[in-house]
Parts: sequence; structure tokens; C-alpha cells
Amino acid sequence: MKREIRLLSSLIILSLCMGSFASCAGGSAVETEIETEVIEETEAAEPTPTSTPTPTPTPTPDPEVNPDFVGKTAEEICDMLTLEEKADQMVQGAIYALSDDDMEENCYSSVLSTYSDVPALSYEEWHDICIEYQNAALLSDTAIPFVYGQDSVHGVNYASGTVIFPQNINIGAANDVELTREMGVIVGSDLSYTGMRWNFAPCVAMSQDPRWGRTYESYSSGRERTTSLSVAFTEGLMSQGVIACAKHFFGDGYAAFGTGESSDGTERLIDRGNAIMTSREIQDNLSVYQALIDAGVQTIMISHTALNGVKMHENSQYISYLKNNMGFDGVVVSDWNSIENTSGETLYDQVVNCINAGIDMLMEDSNYEECRDYIVDGVNNGDISIERVDDAVIRILNMKINAGLFDDPYSENLEPAYEYNSDHGREVARTLAAESFVPIKLTDGTYRLTEGMKVFVTGPAADDTGVQCGGWSTIWNGITDEEYGTKVYPEATTILEGLEQAADEIGFEVITDESRIDECDLVILCVGEKPYAEWNGDAEDLSITGDLALEGNSEAIEFAEESGLPTLTLIVAGRNVIINDYLDEWESVVMLYLPGTETGLAVADVLTGAVPFTGTLPMPYYSTENQITTEGYWLPVGYSAAN
Ligand code: BGC
Repeated sequence: MKREIRLLSSLIILSLCMGSFASCAGGSAVETEIETEVIEETEAAEPTPTSTPTPTPTPTPDPEVNPDFVGKTAEEICDMLTLEEKADQMVQGAIYALSDDDMEENCYSSVLSTYSDVPALSYEEWHDICIEYQNAALLSDTAIPFVYGQDSVHGVNYASGTVIFPQNINIGAANDVELTREMGVIVGSDLSYTGMRWNFAPCVAMSQDPRWGRTYESYSSGRERTTSLSVAFTEGLMSQGVIACAKHFFGDGYAAFGTGESSDGTERLIDRGNAIMTSREIQDNLSVYQALIDAGVQTIMISHTALNGVKMHENSQYISYLKNNMGFDGVVVSDWNSIENTSGETLYDQVVNCINAGIDMLMEDSNYEECRDYIVDGVNNGDISIERVDDAVIRILNMKINAGLFDDPYSENLEPAYEYNSDHGREVARTLAAESFVPIKLTDGTYRLTEGMKVFVTGPAADDTGVQCGGWSTIWNGITDEEYGTKVYPEATTILEGLEQAADEIGFEVITDESRIDECDLVILCVGEKPYAEWNGDAEDLSITGDLALEGNSEAIEFAEESGLPTLTLIVAGRNVIINDYLDEWESVVMLYLPGTETGLAVADVLTGAVPFTGTLPMPYYSTENQITTEGYWLPVGYSAAN
């Protein structure tokens, strides 16, 4: 078998709607065509018998890292670069804006993806895309390897067919450090098949207000679980050669309600707003980052939020503290176009301010080239010192050298722990999901399914793979099966399917035909929230029938009530939604949060008693919105009705 590089011009059409992308922020889908060159693995053709032997063509060598740089330190390489080449290393553009040709011309440092379309590309297709960028980077005059970045926040959630793990809020509820480390290993292992070496995870936001749309990206509202789980996940990722990225530095979960950023024509309620933090809260947040730095995290992403009115992207005080007092010698990367929402009047001013504040790499989907030019101008105008640029470039080169990219730019020597999308990965996801379910009310006889029972399963969250995975799953905001028209994740098991499988094994019956409701012993009411990401999940009304409730919640709740049967309510949501009005009607209630593709199997595990309830609340449960951010709550962190 011979590896033959064939430069096919394949047209990959990505339907993109990345809300962070300025022109998409208003909600319109953007269709972008990207030309990529795809590598095909082909068998060497059998020689055709002819009278004169055909000469064997000389194989085209793989492009190589600039030989002048091999074996050199980051400082030595930096010394050999021109100012323009240094600035190229300090920017990252998006896949739909930065072409292979751009890469070959300028040897940019990095490329990132958006969440595009369903079905997602396969891991092989992603791998081909990464190879083509690497070919282009190494064919450039500078020939420094590039690195691809993505948000594999709960599985390789943008590649088709792979397991989707529970979201961070579930991981916080499960609070199983060893299994979270193993989740990191599995995600890192799956990731290495895609060619993407940089993962924008873990998110260590500590959501203080469940009305924030990124609450489910937080492990917990508290420091302890956030620290131990994020460190374990990071160690798992790093064991597979992945460059991890702790985000978002810092205070992202502390933005005050009503202060959300208005930018790009979008009004936000909380997201990207202003955090007013006490020094104790600041210390708590810094301590999480310190633990991650001690564990070796290679990169840190800055938060879109402001701290006491100063946008974190230009907060030189804390970015310097990170580098000088906390010993962080990795790369500080900006968040998506976020430098553009800082105080400078022009993009030039913003680039100068943010680079001077200590940001090393600018994540700028389309303006990466302009930003590169402004870095060069900034130095030439005396607004940015060459020492600051060198500091950034040395950090970036070290990140790439330490990840092995200079020795092995195509990541051919990586040895992933598991085969792609292994059964083991699905087992771990199932176990973590089951461990994450938090019973908040239990009444005997209404939460255990036993032989001979007849249970009626209803509600819009009962049979929808998209609902159970939530946002940052294949597409940025996620998508329901109903919207998509069929299962978004064909290999996933829904609650209904999981219970139907268990029914056969245990000998109970699952009924969905309303005309048979009178035969039933119990209603299993499955309600939840629509999938959402970032500010699209900000909500004023957190009720289970409120702003982001699934259509059909109210109807299903009413149906359960009218049946007169005992009700077990399962809630599929990114946060502790308010259920005060219904609590008396429901005998048992279990928070499932967003448990991923293995939801149905995990639900069956706990409801049949095969697995005990061990999950506990990772955040306080409020009975009304008025309690939020006060000392009051309904149920405390650590609560479980099973204990
Ligand atoms: C989010 C980050 C994410 C980045 C790249 C941003 O809008 O805040 O969490 O890593 O986009 O997708």
C-alpha cells in the first residue's frame, strides 16, 4: 500500500450558522463554500503488462517542516522569523474564511471550525481537511506546522457517528473524578483520528445564575467540583497528545443579569456581560486556573465578559498576573472576535490594546489577515514592542513543539488509546450519564420499574436524540429530531427506546397509546428545554413551561395530571428549571440535565435499579427567579433525594 497524495479539488459545502460570527449573529444562516483539497489513500495500481516497462514515477515527497527549524528551540526559531512571519503565528482564522491558498501564502498559525451541518462530516473528512491545511502550511516559505482548533466539549461532537458524552453540568452532578479522566482520554483518543490537535475545553465557568445560557457548560457553581473534574478531564485529553484549553479566563459565570453585551446587532441578557466580583470570588476563580496550570494545561482562552467594567480581553492586570504570578507559560488566546468588543475605537487600536494586554493569539474568523497586518503596523509604529511579539511567538512555537508538531506535523505517530468511537467510550458515557441523574423528589413505588408494571411514557423529551444532547452538538445551537425531521444521532438511544429495551428484559410494559392509559400504573413524564448555545439560552423565565421550554411541555404536564396516575417526571434541561407550580402533582422528579447519546440506556439503568442514584446537585436549585443571586435557595449543592 502506498500513500499517494492526490490533490483533488473537492467542494465541501458547509452551511454555517455560527452565532458568534458577526454576520450570522442576527440569526440568518450563512452558506459558505470552501474549496479544500482532499487526500485520498489509494492502492498503488498494479503494473500494466506491456512490452516496455513503464518507469516508476518518483513519489512526490510529503511537504516537510522547514529544515532550518528542526531541533531548534522556540527562541532560536523566533529569532529566524521576519516580523510578518511572527505576526502570522499570532492569528487564527475560521475554516470558511482561511483557504489552503491563504495558508500556503502566509503560513498562518491556526484554523478553527464552526459547528456546521447535520449530518456532520466524518472523522476521515475532517482528517483530510487538516492534512490539506498542513500541506499548505509546509509548502509556504516559512513552513511552520499549523494547528487545528475545535470545541470537543463533550465528545468529538462535530464528527458524525461518535459518542456524545453528557454535558459538563452532568459531569458535575456525577462528580466521578476517575471516570471524568477516562472521558478525557476517550475524547482525546477520538479527536486524534480527526487530525485536530487543539481542543477548546475544558470550560471552567462556574455559573452563578441559571438564567445564563452557558450554565450547562459549567461543572458546578462551586470551585471544588470545577477544579477536580476539569483537571481530570484535561489530564485525560493531554494523555492523547491533545492541546487543551481552559476557558474562559475568568468570571464568565459571574456576569450580572441584565448586563449582557450588545454587539453585532444582538442584545444579550447576561452572556458576555459585566461581572462584579468580590476578591474572594476572584481568588476562587484564579485557584481553578492555577490547578489547571499546575496540571500542564497548554492554552487559556480569555472570557468575553468584563470584570468590574473592564473587558477581560484588555485586562492587562489579570492577564499579566496569569503569566507572571501564576506561572502560566502557555498560550493566551482571545475568544471569537472578542477583541472587537473592547474599548479601542478602531480594529487597529483593539489589536494593539489586546496584544499589549498579553493576548498571544487572536481568534478572528474573517479579520485574521487585517489583524496580522495591524500587529506588524503596531510594531513599526512603536505601539507594540517587539519583545511582546516575541513573547507571544515563543509561547506559540513552544506549544507546537511540545505537541510534537515539528517532528510529526501530520500526527502519524500518535497512538490513540482506543479505536474511533469505541464500545468502551459508549459504556463510559452511559455510566457517567447514569451517575449524573439527580433525584430531587422520590416517593416509594413511583421511581422503580419492576416486573408486571405498565408505564405510560409521554412528553416531548421522551424520544428526541437532539434534545438530550443539547447545544454544542453537531451544530452550535444543537437541533431537535423534530426540527431535523429524523434522529439527529441515529446511534443514540432515547428515553423511550431505553425503557422499551429494559421492558423486554425485566418484564414490564411501556405504553404510549393514550387509549390504554387506564391500564397503566405510572406516568413517566419527560419534559425539557430546547437545545441552545451561548446567549441563545439566556432566559428571563426559567419555568419548565417558560422561555426555552420544549413545545409540548404544558400539554404533556396537563395530560399527566388528568390521567390521575402517579407521575415520575424526568427533566432534560441545561439547568435547574423552575418547577414549583407542579411539584405537588408529581410524586417523583429526577433531573437528567443533558446526558448525551446514551441517555435512554442510562435512564433504564437507574429506573430498573441496576445502577443506584448517586448524582447530587452541582448547583443550587431555586424555587423562583427571585431567589437567584440571593442567599436563598430551595435545594443546596450536594442535595439528592436518594440520600
Ligand atoms: C465561545 C468559545 C468557543 C469559541 C470557538 C466562542 O464564541 O465563547 O467557548 O471556544 O467560540 O468556537
